[in-house]
Amino acid sequence: MQNRVKNADFAAKIMDADAAAALVPNGALVGFSGFVGAGAPIHLPLAIAKRAEALHAQGKEYKIGALTGASTDPHLDGDLAKANAVSFRSPFMTDRDMRGAINTNETEYMDVHLSSLAQQVEAGFFGEMDFAIIEILGIKEDGSLIPSTSIGNNQNWLNYAKKVILEVNCAQPESLEGIHDVACLPKVPFREPINIKRPSDRIGTPYMKVDPSKVVAVVVGESKDRVNSFTPLDEVSIAIGDNVVKFLQKEEAEGRLPKGKLLPLQSGIGNVANAVLAGLERAGYKGLSCYTEVIQDGLLALIKAGVVTEVSSASLSLSPEAIEDFRENIEFYKKHIVLRPQEFSNHPEVIRRLGIIGMNGMLEADIYGNVNSTNTMGTQMMNGIGGSGDFARNGYISIFVTPSTAKGGDISAIVPFVAHVNHTEHDTMVIATEYGYADLRGKSPRQRAAEMIKIAHPDYRPMLQAYFDEACKGENGKPAGHTPHILSKALSWHDKYNKTGSMK
Ligand code: COA
Repeated sequence: MQNRVKNADFAAKIMDADAAAALVPNGALVGFSGFVGAGAPIHLPLAIAKRAEALHAQGKEYKIGALTGASTDPHLDGDLAKANAVSFRSPFMTDRDMRGAINTNETEYMDVHLSSLAQQVEAGFFGEMDFAIIEILGIKEDGSLIPSTSIGNNQNWLNYAKKVILEVNCAQPESLEGIHDVACLPKVPFREPINIKRPSDRIGTPYMKVDPSKVVAVVVGESKDRVNSFTPLDEVSIAIGDNVVKFLQKEEAEGRLPKGKLLPLQSGIGNVANAVLAGLERAGYKGLSCYTEVIQDGLLALIKAGVVTEVSSASLSLSPEAIEDFRENIEFYKKHIVLRPQEFSNHPEVIRRLGIIGMNGMLEADIYGNVNSTNTMGTQMMNGIGGSGDFARNGYISIFVTPSTAKGGDISAIVPFVAHVNHTEHDTMVIATEYGYADLRGKSPRQRAAEMIKIAHPDYRPMLQAYFDEACKGENGKPAGHTPHILSKALSWHDKYNKTGSMK
């Protein structure tokens, strides 16, 4: 085991994960590190899950509240959910077991914008934070903490929690030191303008700080980030990427985007958002910048190829294959990447001022451009809104991407009315499928509907047109109004899918 704990006071607090987990009582609100699978503690959550199972077997209650940066590791969300050890979860998750616990109401879940959670915790909406459990790379002689592969809300949790447990992960490369830029927003009304004028600007320090008197345990271990690999690009995702590029090129030609350089890009999570990035490489772009919240495999490949040369993010969320490449070329990547807290990576004011082009995946959109990113068939939580709202609302251009159908064609991604709304027609600007893009800017609801129907799957276009035409006739002797709908049929496609297994 390498000597990663160089401060004697912290070294004196080293203990094993089971002993540290025993310090976390039933009912505790815990702020964990972790952002899209990266930098989440593993040994502590696993030990807490084991302890919960043992206590449940004795008929005792044990559940904690778990707040994070974003989604975590299977040992955090997954094992804690399997042990039925989480009473409350926020703000974002992608784990199958945690999703199950949320959808069966064993775990209460609050889906909140990633930029907002820290401020809401500080304000006390969730009660007091009892523990912060934070993965780090090491502790320096002066007691400062070297962050791991994500920063997320870590410094905030270290500030707000009454007690702190540090998990030192020796499997993360020490050479990551220096890539981070840690800062914290002061409380209102003491905030100043944020001095980020381009994605690579640094406003803080490479280290996190903690009051040593709050640290009750230091656990030293090794664990690799476990981020799922992406599905390989297929015809559909390539076509979606190309359609986004076509749109961006049109914007350049019309003088709304700087030629060849675009504006800083944000790319969301998921297979499709990852595939869109590949489209930028195929189009021959070089020297682009990103102000985003997560670096996934696609973006790393773009940095390597010189397509993107400047990236600000809250996490490095890489599949095992991409991690190998990152480790081998770490000094190269460090020149191009800044990792910062999500309060800043997702800050609405910075996003608006830098003129970010937000590109996010979605589940479905309706003919007027309202977007559902989170709830399948309106009721089942998928992952959460993540940072998509931060970027969709505040970006210079907000693009949503999706294949035109899901589940082998039985679900249309374009529907008469979305069954859950995350991003309203007021924030969505461009929606792309493999059949093209709908540019909704400067258009009324009826004009938008015409654009949206064009990008639906051909099997569903006549059904959408029929719905829209009928809606435009009005109902019950009343004219159709500004946003035509037939209320009794607006959600009939979802209802039909629930009853028959197909929207067709
Ligand atoms: N109804 C029901 N299920 C749907 C659906 C719909 N309209 N559209 C897609 N799905 C299902 C797919 O079938 C697939 O299911 P499977 O895993 O069982 O095969 C799953 O959703 C993912 O779909 P996929 O097409 O592979 O999309 P993706 O990986 O690009 O993810 C989101 C799409 C919407 C789930 C993802 O982008 C997300 O979670 N977005 C919200 C958060 C966000 O945007 N964050 C931004 C940055 S953190």
